[in-house]
Amino acid sequence: MVVKTFFITTPIFYPNDRLHLGHAYAMIMADIIVRYKSSQGYQVYFQTGSDDHGEKIEKKALSLNSSPQELVDKNVSLFQQLWKELGILEHVFYRTSSPNHHFKIKNIFTKLLEQGDIYLSEYQGKYCITCEDYVSKSKAINHNFCPTCQAELRTINEPAYFLRVSKYYSQLIEHYRKNPDFLLPNNARKELFSNFLKEEIPNLCITRSDINWGIPVPGQQKMVIYVWFEALLNYINSAEGENKFNDSKAEIVHLIGKEIVRFHAIYWPIILFFLNKRLPNKILVHGWLITPTGKMSKSKGNVFDPLGLLKKYPADLIRTYLIAKINFFQDGVFSEDLLSNFYQDFLVNNLSNLVSRISKMVHLYNGGIIPEFNSDKSLENYHHECLYLVKEFQVKMDKYKLTDAFCQIKNFLDSSNKMISDLVPWKLFQEKKYIFLNQVLNHLVNRIKIISFLLNSIIPNTSKEIYKVFNINSDEINWDNCLNFSFLSKVKIKKVEKHLYEPRK
Ligand code: MSP
Repeated sequence: MVVKTFFITTPIFYPNDRLHLGHAYAMIMADIIVRYKSSQGYQVYFQTGSDDHGEKIEKKALSLNSSPQELVDKNVSLFQQLWKELGILEHVFYRTSSPNHHFKIKNIFTKLLEQGDIYLSEYQGKYCITCEDYVSKSKAINHNFCPTCQAELRTINEPAYFLRVSKYYSQLIEHYRKNPDFLLPNNARKELFSNFLKEEIPNLCITRSDINWGIPVPGQQKMVIYVWFEALLNYINSAEGENKFNDSKAEIVHLIGKEIVRFHAIYWPIILFFLNKRLPNKILVHGWLITPTGKMSKSKGNVFDPLGLLKKYPADLIRTYLIAKINFFQDGVFSEDLLSNFYQDFLVNNLSNLVSRISKMVHLYNGGIIPEFNSDKSLENYHHECLYLVKEFQVKMDKYKLTDAFCQIKNFLDSSNKMISDLVPWKLFQEKKYIFLNQVLNHLVNRIKIISFLLNSIIPNTSKEIYKVFNINSDEINWDNCLNFSFLSKVKIKKVEKHLYEPRK
């Protein structure tokens, strides 16, 4: 059997500060995709990292009386702690201040210079330090403010090298024409076209002369390479990335936030054209976590510290909240009250409650043993619901409609509760309808098995707890047998003394 390869990346984060929950969002969504793709039999590679250079970091270090390297090292260790606490699976953590990256970037710069694709000129214009972005006159708000983050722009006037991105404008447009799903969702693509690709794109300035914290331009004492140019190259500079971008069969997906679409959807493919490399299959653009005061961001002072939240709430709550309440391709609101309500509504009242109810009934009516499966015509519709759930969940996940996929599970939980109130197992027991009661119990346990299997990509800790109750071996359950109702026949299950999640005091 040929093993399919899947390579997913998140943006590499700026370590000028601690990360907030908005940053953690991308990692959690990527982790959910990684777990799902692994369950589907893919060999999965997952890359993230830190974008260590740039003016923003140089300035911040200066203000703290620290060296930029010390500052980024300190913050990167907090990133890694966060990924651990959020249950993020094993991944490549790539750092742009690594000697490997410096070496490769200098080689790429030299190669492109020799090819004549990079040329020396002069940059005169505006620059946003927060976004590390050159802002054209036509896009600046009131000539002086960044259209993305509203920060005041700085005027730059310096000798600089440029990359001839205009050379590949037509090829890029052609790529979009042939691959309508290259950039998802569709409105991200529409915006890109109406804002930036309507006409030829200007060449990109790829060096800075008035900062020091960066990768030196080969042969130029006073210049460093523009942070975005080298940061994008992280995707192919790691050993794994290099491998995947040389493998035409690997499925490559970049997950990014919406303010960095231009870099990934214009410059990155063009850089790959210059280097004669294949393109990724997809660029997925997620929305922002917003609060009543707008996008969650340090500069607005409205951020939630995920490490702080993790001291109060389980990682699985944060993970489910984000997939359930922030519609994957759109903005969504976060507040601690909403998080806390969701804990009660979903984890306590819905999921834990169903697990306890079903395990209790198996103990009360069948001595804690899951009854054998015997197909009963009257349960046929309920069976169809299970088949439908498993199919639809995969359809949605395969289209990266993560929130819709979660909604399928949520609806199924509701219909499982309804099934209990419609069939009233305690009445069947009183009326001594044991044969049918056993079929209902077998069916309900199997519903929980399916739910916990699907939830395993989203809330792995909770799913493992449910597996323990129903004696499900996590190494044995898979897409084929999750719908096999004989899989758990005659298995003894645990008594749930305490709900998986108790109401908060
Ligand atoms: N260093 C660049 C990325 C380079 S990738 C070659 C960068 N770093 S960042 O730390 O500022 O942002 C990283 C990611 O976090 C971006 O995709 C951004 O959209 C995301 N988020 C930052 N704030 C966010 C929210 N409030 N909500 C959701 N995601 C947000 O950009």
